[in-house]
Amino acid sequence: MAKFNEILAASFIFAVAFNLDLVYSKLSNSMFITWGLQHATIQANGEDLQLVLDKASGSAAQTKKAFLFGSIEMLIKMVPGNSAGTVTAYYLSSTGSQHDEIDFEFLGNISGQPYIVHTNVYTQGIGNREQQFYLWFDPTADFHNYTIHWNPAEIVWYVDGLPLRVFRNYEKEGIAYPNKQGMKVYTTLWNADDWATRGGLVKTNWNDAPFIARLRHFRARACKWNGPISISQCSAIVAANWWTNPWYSKLSHAQMGQLDWVRKNYMIYDYCRDFKRFNGHMAPECFKNQF
Ligand SMILES: *[C@@H]1O[C@H](CO)[C@@H](O)[C@H](O)[C@H]1NC(C)=O
Ligand SMILES: *[C@@H]1O[C@H](CO)[C@@H](O)[C@H](O)[C@H]1NC(C)=O
Repeated sequence: MAKFNEILAASFIFAVAFNLDLVYSKLSNSMFITWGLQHATIQANGEDLQLVLDKASGSAAQTKKAFLFGSIEMLIKMVPGNSAGTVTAYYLSSTGSQHDEIDFEFLGNISGQPYIVHTNVYTQGIGNREQQFYLWFDPTADFHNYTIHWNPAEIVWYVDGLPLRVFRNYEKEGIAYPNKQGMKVYTTLWNADDWATRGGLVKTNWNDAPFIARLRHFRARACKWNGPISISQCSAIVAANWWTNPWYSKLSHAQMGQLDWVRKNYMIYDYCRDFKRFNGHMAPECFKNQF
């Protein structure tokens, strides 16, 4: 019996290890362009992705594979100059009306005015969980690291290693958490001048087109989605599933301090504080200590 369990455990670990998708392969092997084929390009030996927006079209790319848990990492240099009206999005999403989604969106601005980082999370088709931030640097001057850590305990949005936002799993208390659907990684550059800049007041100036966002160093150190079997495989507490290590289930004290610094100095919108919009009926997680 013990022997049998060992064999079972060994084959399970093998299955999990096999499932772990270390996408150190080139961006060109893991992503493909889905919109604006005449614009968007994958360059520099398949490592750099350039998204272009002009009056004719925006552009987009997505991964071939879907993932459930792990770390999704991308270096991005936002549209420089007058980027008002443009939105560069980098997000994870499943499909269907009950879809899950984890978003990073970057709302452009006129030259010299600050970008807004817009974040949201959808669970089973429902979003309305926006948080927005300014950045502590000019995101158009250089590449910066935008990473989503996603595990059974929490989702953390990181910018250059600093946590911007945390969404914890309170499923036991009846709050839906994205842990049963594989998500692909998408990136898009499009015109959203009806809402993006100063709430839609500043429009895209097409004289400044083409608008170009640059992305590189895509890494999905994540569990590959192979259908419903992945729900248990990707959340199993085994070494190969590094994201299930207790180390990643909660921010460290130092990280909590960083999150606090970001929130105090750079947060400009929090759905948990928008009593007017929700008429006082705040989302249940707003009453939790979400770190
Ligand atoms: C990007 O940030 C993540 C999260 O902090 C980190 O794990 C990763 O090593 C960083 N990547 C680079 C290239 O700096
Ligand atoms: C753009 O700049 C204006 C003025 O500084 C600011 O109010 C706004 O939040 C900035 N960002 C966006 C995306 O509107």
